[in-house]
Amino acid sequence: MLFRQLFEPVSSTYTYLLGCEETGQAILIDPVLPTWQRDLEEINKLGLTLVYTLDTHIHADHITAARTLKRETGSQIAHPAIDALACIDLPISEGTPVQVGEIRIDPLFTPGHTDGHHAYQVGNRVLTGDALLIDACGRTDFQSGDPTALYHSVAGKLFALPDETLVYPAHDYEGRWVSSIAQEKTRNPRLGGDRPLDSFVELMNALDLAYPKFIDYALPGNRECGVCPPGVPDNLSQYCDQIGESRQG
Ligand SMILES: [Fe+2]
Repeated sequence: MLFRQLFEPVSSTYTYLLGCEETGQAILIDPVLPTWQRDLEEINKLGLTLVYTLDTHIHADHITAARTLKRETGSQIAHPAIDALACIDLPISEGTPVQVGEIRIDPLFTPGHTDGHHAYQVGNRVLTGDALLIDACGRTDFQSGDPTALYHSVAGKLFALPDETLVYPAHDYEGRWVSSIAQEKTRNPRLGGDRPLDSFVELMNALDLAYPKFIDYALPGNRECGVCPPGVPDNLSQYCDQIGESRQG
C-alpha cells in the first residue's frame, strides 16, 4: 500500500492518501478544500486513480474537498451513513469494510467529538480523526458532542486496538505526525493512564474553549459535501481559497 500523510496548514489538518499498488486505485481521507490540487498532483505523480474520498466526520474547522474532487476526477463521496447527507455516494458504517483495490478500510464508530464520527483502521494503522489526537482529543462542546461518548469511543474502542497500532490523527497543531495506541494509552494527558470516566467528563466540561471561528460556514458547506457557502468574510477567505492562490481586489 502506498501511504502519504499530507498537511493542510490553514486548519492544521492531515489528509491521508492510500493507494493500492496492485490496482492503482486511491482514496483520500479528510481532503481539504485549499489543498485539493496538491493532493491530486500527488495522486497523479504516483500513477494512481482517485476512486473515493472519505471523511471522518462533518468538520467544523475546514471544508472538505470531497465535492470538488468528485467534479474534477469523478471520485465517489464516501461518508458515514449516520450523518445522512444527501450528497453521499457510498454510505459507510462499522462492520462493512471499504475496499480500495486490495486495501481494506475498517470503519470504527467513534462518536463523542460529533455524534457521527468514525475512525478508520487500515492494517496496523488507525486514522483517528478528531476522536483521538496526539496527546489530546477533539472537543466535545459542539455538533452533538458528548464527553461520555468520546470516552467510550477512545478508552473502550480505540485503546482496545493492539498497542503497536500507529495512530494518525486528523490534526496536529504542534508539528507532531504519528503516535501509537501504546503511547496514547500511557501518556495522553486527557485519556491516558487509565483516567476514569468522571474525571474525563469533568475535564472536558471545564475546557472553556473559544467559539470555533469558521464553524458557521463549515457546517453548512460540509453538509453539502464541500461547498464554500456564500458570505464568507475576507478574514476567513483562506479557508476557501487554493493554497498559493492570490486574491485580487
Ligand atoms: Fe472536527
